[in-house]
Amino acid sequence: MPNRRSFVTSLLGAGAALPVLRATAFRGLAAAGPIAATRTPADLATDEDYWGEIQRAFELDRTMINLNNGGCSPAPTHVLEQMIRDLRFSNELPVDHMWRILEPRLESVRRELAAEFGCDTEEMAITRNASEANETMIFGLDLKRGDEILVTNQNYPRMLTSWDQRVRREGLVLKQISIPLPPPSQQDIVDRFRAAVTPRTRIIEVTHITNLSGQIMPVRAIVDFARPLGIEVFVDGAHAFAHFPFKRDDLDCDYYGTSLHKWLLAPVGTGFLYVRKSRQRQLWPLMAAPAEMNENVRKYEEIGTHPAANHNAISVALAFHQAIGAERKVARLRYLRDRWARPLVAESDRVKMLTPIDSDNSAGIGLVHVEGIDPGKLGGWLMDRYRIVSTPIVHPEFNGLRVTPNVYTTPGEVDTFAEAMRVAIRRGVA
Ligand SMILES: Cc1ncc(COP(=O)(O)O)c(C=O)c1O
Repeated sequence: MPNRRSFVTSLLGAGAALPVLRATAFRGLAAAGPIAATRTPADLATDEDYWGEIQRAFELDRTMINLNNGGCSPAPTHVLEQMIRDLRFSNELPVDHMWRILEPRLESVRRELAAEFGCDTEEMAITRNASEANETMIFGLDLKRGDEILVTNQNYPRMLTSWDQRVRREGLVLKQISIPLPPPSQQDIVDRFRAAVTPRTRIIEVTHITNLSGQIMPVRAIVDFARPLGIEVFVDGAHAFAHFPFKRDDLDCDYYGTSLHKWLLAPVGTGFLYVRKSRQRQLWPLMAAPAEMNENVRKYEEIGTHPAANHNAISVALAFHQAIGAERKVARLRYLRDRWARPLVAESDRVKMLTPIDSDNSAGIGLVHVEGIDPGKLGGWLMDRYRIVSTPIVHPEFNGLRVTPNVYTTPGEVDTFAEAMRVAIRRGVA
C-alpha cells in the first residue's frame, strides 16, 4: 500500500524523463498519500477528501459530465505537460533531441510496463494503441486455408474486421459464438468456447473485459483448455490493463494487447503488445523488420518516424496509477458504478443491468438496458438536456447505455446521471 513517501517518490521516479509537475498539481497529489494511509481500498473508495486530490490532478471541462472514459480518457495534467515539454524539445532539433535523446528512453517505459504487467522486459513492445497490438497478433501468424479462428460476436468490431480480411484474402474460417448477458457463470462462457472448438481450430481471440458490457472473461480457464490442444489464445485487453488488478501469470497467456489511453490515463496514441519470448519467432510484425530481429520484441515497434513524447509520457501515467494503487482504483470504480446502477435497478422492473454487478467479474464499465427506451435516443436526450456523455450500445442480441466513469468522476456527476435516468424511465425521452 503506497504511503506518502512512496506516493511522491514513485511520481518523481517516473522513468528516465523527470516530469514537469506544476506546483499545484504536485501538491494536490502529494496530499492524497497521507489521507489514504493504511486504510483498505473499500474504505477509501468513499473518501471524497482522497478522491478530491486525485480529481485535482486533471484539468477538465466540468460543464460536461464525461461518462465515456472507455472510449479514451483524459490524461492527468502533469502527464500531458511532460508530453508537451518533450514535443517542444523534439521540435528544436528532431533528429537529435527526438531520436538521440528521447527515443532511447523508451527502454525505461518498456521496463516499467513489463514490471507492472508481470512479464520480462524482453516480452514488452510499445504500440500506439490496442488496435495495432491486436492486429499484430491477427496478421502475424502463418495460417492456411480452412484454419479456424474462434471468437465471440462481442469481440471488438475492428478486430473482427481484421479477421474478416484474412477470411476474404486467405480462406480462413471465422467462427463467432454468442454469450448471454449477463452469463449464468464463468464456466458457462468456457463451455461455449470449448463446444465450438474443432480439430481445425488454430486460434481463440478473447476480450479480457468486453467493451460492450464490461464482462470480465475467464481468460485463464480458456488458456488452460486451449494450450494442450495446440490452440493459440490472443487476448484483447484494450480495457483491462490498469482498470482492475491482474498480472500476466494470472492469465498465463502468450499474447496480450492493450491501449494505455483508456484506463492507464496515458496520452492518446499509446498501447502495448506482450508476446511471450518463446512465441516471438513465429509471430511476424505488422511492418517488416530485419531477420536479425526475429526474436527481438522491438521488431513490433518498427513503425517508422513517430513522436517519442507520447510513449515516454506513459511512465508518468504509470507512476500516477501506481501511486493510487490498482486495488484502490478498482474499488472506487465499482463504488461509482454501484452508486448509479443499484438505484436504477431498484427504480423499475424495466431496468436491467447487463453487467454482472454482483460479482468480481466486472469493474468500472456498466451496461444498463431500459425496456422501451431506444439507447440512441436516450444518449442524445442525456446530452441535450444534461450535457452527459454516454455510449449507446446496439448489438443484434442486446442493447443499452454504456457508462464508464473514471477516477476523476465525482459522486455528484454520477448522481446527476442517475437522476436524469430516473426522469427518462418515468417520462420517456421522446
Ligand atoms: C475491446 C477493444 N479492443 C480494441 C479496441 C481498440 O482500441 P484502440 O482504438 O485504442 O486501438 C477497443 C477500443 O475501444 C476495444 O474496446
